[in-house]
Amino acid sequence: MQNRPFSKKIYEEMQQIIPGGVNSPVRSCQAMSQLPIIVASGSGDQVVDVDGHSYIDYCGSWGALIHGHAHPQIVQAVQKQIALGSSFGMSTAIEGELAQQIVGLVSSIEKIRFVSSGTEATMSAARLARGFTQRDLIIKFNGNYHGHADFFLIQAGSGALNLPSASSAGIPSDFVKHTLSLPYNDVAVCRAVLSDPQLAPKIAAVILEPISGNMGVVPATHEFLKTLRAETQKIGALLILDEVITGFRVGLGGAQALYGIKPDLTCFGKIIGGGFPAAAFGGRKDVMDRLAPLGTVYQAGTLSGNPAAMAGGLQALKLLQVPGFYEELERKADVITKPVAAALKEKKIAACVQQKGSMFTIFFGRHEVNNLVDAQNLDPELFARFFRFLFAQGIYIPPAQHEAWFISSAHQRKNLEKTRDLILKFVQEL
Ligand SMILES: Cc1ncc(COP(=O)(O)O)c(C=O)c1O
Repeated sequence: MQNRPFSKKIYEEMQQIIPGGVNSPVRSCQAMSQLPIIVASGSGDQVVDVDGHSYIDYCGSWGALIHGHAHPQIVQAVQKQIALGSSFGMSTAIEGELAQQIVGLVSSIEKIRFVSSGTEATMSAARLARGFTQRDLIIKFNGNYHGHADFFLIQAGSGALNLPSASSAGIPSDFVKHTLSLPYNDVAVCRAVLSDPQLAPKIAAVILEPISGNMGVVPATHEFLKTLRAETQKIGALLILDEVITGFRVGLGGAQALYGIKPDLTCFGKIIGGGFPAAAFGGRKDVMDRLAPLGTVYQAGTLSGNPAAMAGGLQALKLLQVPGFYEELERKADVITKPVAAALKEKKIAACVQQKGSMFTIFFGRHEVNNLVDAQNLDPELFARFFRFLFAQGIYIPPAQHEAWFISSAHQRKNLEKTRDLILKFVQEL
């Protein structure tokens, strides 16, 4: 797919007027030394670029498209809604319908509020936790990504991992002085911090991705999550699960149902908008009722609960409730992951596949990745070669090793098998 004159021209023109030519950094494929895709359209498990090349897509709009591109029922639901008006800045019944669905499916959610992005959801949840507890300190974990609010950008994952300081310029140190970032999956360190008599009374909340997708797929251990739940409860701090990726991805009840953990607050994004800009945070009623207009914690949004996004999300959630949906999705992922994991083991290559249901990462350079230190000791050159090899064959994977691949219900068996065979070929030639 090197012959892409229109993509090249459009990208070069956009670079003149949009920083880096992109509206979100990883899309630039800079670390892959590769001209990015300029998408013209998407359908099912594929996207087509402006030069007419098709690619089997494993990025799935970073996990939002669990039903694939342009799912007919989602398109129809959104079109119907848009014909009635695209935005009002007034309440619509469909916000209540989507809220009702989520409250019914995720047992920890008693009340929920919609926003437009995962960044807004986590930022608002943190403010609410601080307002509720009247404490300032937020504990997060190295390599977890909670969007780009200032106070979360220390030791952050995803695109922020490529920045020199794993943080960002433009953030005064005063803005991060109330954030403490700890090693992921390290029970002893967490216990020590959460029981420290100086720190504990200052902790408003502990926030984490229960299955991290932003240093590649790295699940929390059961012990780690159980410890965080128990210790936060002891000291009156809130536990916030960032399920922007895992919510409705690993099961209808999210990662919290898989682990049997009841957080105080949860953040959602991606899937709940069905591919449109919607996200949310919700949880305990007594905490959520501190939000304005009932309480004193301010939070608002012009496009919050946008009816078109609500219609997309509502239809997406309905489609997830077909019996056997998640089992089938995992079977599809296994078409790739099982044989690839076996081949890596057989060839004794320092590489591994880490998977939770329909999300997985193939890591090159290590046999196991449990935390950010492991994730920073991978083989970036080999991964970039792997990316370019697949790209040349019409397969698009997230252009960074610290990301998850996502399977959708639209992935066709023949395309999964084609992908599997190409990966096996790459592995054999190593
Ligand atoms: C776990 C997690 N939280 C929050 C966010 C931020 O979401 P958004 O990009 O919609 O602002 C992301 C984005 O990928 C994410 O993966």
